[in-house]
Amino acid sequence: MTAQLIDGKAFAADLRARVGEHAAAFSEQAGRKAGLAVVLVGEDAASEVYVRSKGKATVAANMESFEHRLPADTSQEELIALVEQLNADPAVDGILVQLPLPGDLDEQAVIAAIDPGKDVDGFHVESAGRLMVGREGFVPCTPLGCIMLLRDRHGDLSGLNAVVIGRSHIVGKPMAQLLLDANATVTIAHSRTKDLPEIVRRADIVVAAVGRAEMVKADWIKPGATVIDVGINRLMPAEGESKGRLVGDVDFAGASEVAGAITPVPGGVGPMTIAVLLRNTLVAAYAHAGLEAPEGL
Ligand code: GUN
Repeated sequence: MTAQLIDGKAFAADLRARVGEHAAAFSEQAGRKAGLAVVLVGEDAASEVYVRSKGKATVAANMESFEHRLPADTSQEELIALVEQLNADPAVDGILVQLPLPGDLDEQAVIAAIDPGKDVDGFHVESAGRLMVGREGFVPCTPLGCIMLLRDRHGDLSGLNAVVIGRSHIVGKPMAQLLLDANATVTIAHSRTKDLPEIVRRADIVVAAVGRAEMVKADWIKPGATVIDVGINRLMPAEGESKGRLVGDVDFAGASEVAGAITPVPGGVGPMTIAVLLRNTLVAAYAHAGLEAPEGL
């Protein structure tokens, strides 16, 4: 392996510790803790795990965690009524409705009901619009975490060629916008892109967010490039394994012989998401309290 490993796990631990210190100072100043409400509808096993770890991380960062678990047969009206109750609750600074929602629940309508000032996921159309036109607002946690890792490695991203593979609303599109804001030259590639390997070979920065196991191959990577792998895919179990291995969207073993720096899976981008969620929640809390958020949060 010649690439430097980008240790997202360590970076995220640092960020969580920093947020925790500021959150303690916030509660001194504001006379209350910053609060994050997480809403989980139904009993998706993966979502259960996420929600539990969000709750633990919130408390560990000196913030209040409010968990709302609703049955899978919750109606649209009931769910929106809960969101409105959380909008009105002064103890709640951030609201996260865990996705995907079960059944026929309309995700867009539920997200639209969240107060944009509490939209710490950055999924509301107002948040997306603010990002697009360069106004302050909440940015989705995973791409914001990726840009933090990139800035930590490169400092200035001006003029670098960045290729984002994937065009989801949650990762690919906001990622491209953040790179553009950082003055990178950005290409968004996706499932219909022609000559993808050729396009990726021009990239100084590759962000892979397609959700296809080990799709990006070593010989697509420009020597010395920085590779950010957002994918988390579980392979079929090999003989003797009870569970398949977790891999990213990049062939890590191959790409790490060519890249200058690369995020591992797991332990790369993944841990950043919750750390940034806590950061966004604290930023929301400062705004709600009418206090200036500290520099560098
Ligand atoms: N499901 C998986 N990741 C996320 C996330 O970051 N936010 C929400 N709301 N749902 C998710």
